[in-house]
Amino acid sequence: MQTVTLGRTGLQVSRMGVGAGGPSQIGVKTGRSEQESVNLLRRAFDAGVNLVDTSEGYGTEQIIGRALEGRDRDQIILSTKKSTRHKDVTPESVMESLDASLRRLQTDAIDIYNLHGVVPQDYRRLVEEIYPTLEAARQAGKIRFLGITEMFGEDRQHAMLSEALADDLWDVVMVGFNLLNQTARAAVLAPAIRQNVGVQVMFAVRKALGSEEAIVPFVQSLLERGEMDTEDVDVGRILDFALSSAASLPDLAYRFCRDEAGVHVVLSGTGNAEHLERNLESFEREPLPKETTQKLRHIFRSVVSTTGQSLD
Ligand SMILES: NC(=O)c1ccc[n+]([C@@H]2O[C@H](COP(=O)([O-])OP(=O)(O)OC[C@H]3O[C@@H](n4cnc5c(N)ncnc54)[C@H](OP(=O)(O)O)[C@@H]3O)[C@@H](O)[C@H]2O)c1
Repeated sequence: MQTVTLGRTGLQVSRMGVGAGGPSQIGVKTGRSEQESVNLLRRAFDAGVNLVDTSEGYGTEQIIGRALEGRDRDQIILSTKKSTRHKDVTPESVMESLDASLRRLQTDAIDIYNLHGVVPQDYRRLVEEIYPTLEAARQAGKIRFLGITEMFGEDRQHAMLSEALADDLWDVVMVGFNLLNQTARAAVLAPAIRQNVGVQVMFAVRKALGSEEAIVPFVQSLLERGEMDTEDVDVGRILDFALSSAASLPDLAYRFCRDEAGVHVVLSGTGNAEHLERNLESFEREPLPKETTQKLRHIFRSVVSTTGQSLD
């Protein structure tokens, strides 16, 4: 598994990270047993994945804690998050949440502690009221690096992360980016490169890019909204030119994100052991041909409204 330096953190991270949230939550949401989720994580670790992302809200922190039992904790980078959508996020509740995450993950320190799903209207208040608490927890050794993640569904052009990068307070950001919605390139990846901020990508596959049939209604809807040019696409064969260089649409989708400048880790969320094997293979493959990437950039260049999750 290829690794890269996660920006200013200096951490050496695998290009693929396990996302323990999303629609599958490593199997918690898709009917897998806890032991199956533990096995899935251990298989990813054994294959060289060394970063796993979770949150206090996913119900997967304790599963990760179990998967780490008997292993060298220093070999794995833990990213977890504090939910921020409630007005009662206070310095005290943040410290309680952090301590609970440490207990569930069975560790003394979180490598990357993120404010989770921050919407633009909450950002400034969280910086003023909560950031000092995070900094104090870092000084106390409970957190190594500070991160922030966006609410992609409500903030599809990354207003919150644009503001956060301008503040330059965060070591790592998590951003929604995929071959359909590439707005993060200018809004987030360019400033992150300039400031040497670590970048984790979410939504690389989601719903739209899970299968060749799934993408069709998304493209139809983007054509109706005028965000794609009819001259660029043949709806039934939309990605044929690119799929000839890939093993599958998820393979194309993960490699497209991995190859993007400024992206360090692409999170892959699955509860399916077979999908995990395929995804591990994707991250071992060579870069997509330049002309394929350029054409994918061109045909989706004006798309701003979709995250790849739903047609709304
Ligand atoms: N605001 C935030 O902070 C936030 C929000 C969302 C997500 N996240 C983080 O980002 C991580 C990644 O999330 P994501 O959902 O965007 O991940 P993703 O990998 O883009 O999409 C996951 C979906 O793709 C499917 N999938 C994965 N591999 C596949 C394959 N080879 N073939 C077919 N389908 C496949 C999964 O279903 P199967 O289980 O069937 O494989 C699942 O439904 C999450 O786990 C979470 O850690 C953070």
